Amino acid sequence: MFSTHLLNALQTARHIAVLTGAGVSAESGVPTFRTADGLWKRFKPEELANFDAFMADPELVTAWYNERRRIINSVEPNPGHRALADIAHLVPAVTLITQNVDGLHQRAGSRDIIELHGNIHRNICSRCRIEVQLEMESEVLQPPCTSCGGLIRPDVVWFGEFLPEGAMAAAEKAALDCDIFFSIGTSALVYPAAALPATARQHGAYVVEINTERTALSDHVDECLIGPAGQLLPMLTDRLKENRTD
Ligand code: OAD
Repeated sequence: MFSTHLLNALQTARHIAVLTGAGVSAESGVPTFRTADGLWKRFKPEELANFDAFMADPELVTAWYNERRRIINSVEPNPGHRALADIAHLVPAVTLITQNVDGLHQRAGSRDIIELHGNIHRNICSRCRIEVQLEMESEVLQPPCTSCGGLIRPDVVWFGEFLPEGAMAAAEKAALDCDIFFSIGTSALVYPAAALPATARQHGAYVVEINTERTALSDHVDECLIGPAGQLLPMLTDRLKENRTD
């Protein structure tokens, strides 16, 4: 299952960086973006997750996020999330970089996470960007910002927007420094996050992909593990627990 090279690298790794995507939360029951079904199947993520779409039809975009929030609030972290939280205790340094906005890594016990695409549980004013506490995460559009009258939106990164200040720089720093880089449960199509595995590999890291299927990244990694993250990651942490002596 795991190559000898990976097992040896895990044994001596000083710093592991991990990039996660929607696939890590799939086994919790959160639909991924590019394999979505049901109500939202007819929309591409790019069509809903952008500022112009929100301004053109705030009710539609808000309803999409309310639906995702409702799902996220009703599910639990899965063994993949928990294994990633465990790894932090087994290796001197672990940097967890996520594109997910669902907060499930935090709920599984991971700390100091780099959230590249924000967090769906926070809301901000789309005009003055002040953070807004919602009384109720309802199905309807929220009342406008009390400071400036702007529409309230989730504090997530939309297509065409900048990533949170410092987040990408911190992720790149980890990619440059790590010995092993994992890309897990992401289609590796959305930049700049998708560039991180290549950065890591160019700087000497052993790059491993974990996904249920091959992706755009698969031909550019050192090792491609095909299978559900919720099964492979606990197996990986078990091997780490057996082998690490520090
Ligand atoms: P995608 O929906 O594009 O990709 C999910 C990936 O997870 C796919 O490659 C699946 O094969 C894989 N997958 C599904 N179930 C899995 C499992 N149990 N174990 C391992 N892999 C599994 O989601 P992301 O790559 O995260 O951005 O999407 C990137 C960004 O595009 C998102 O953060 C979001 C979206 O639009 C914004 O909203 C800005």
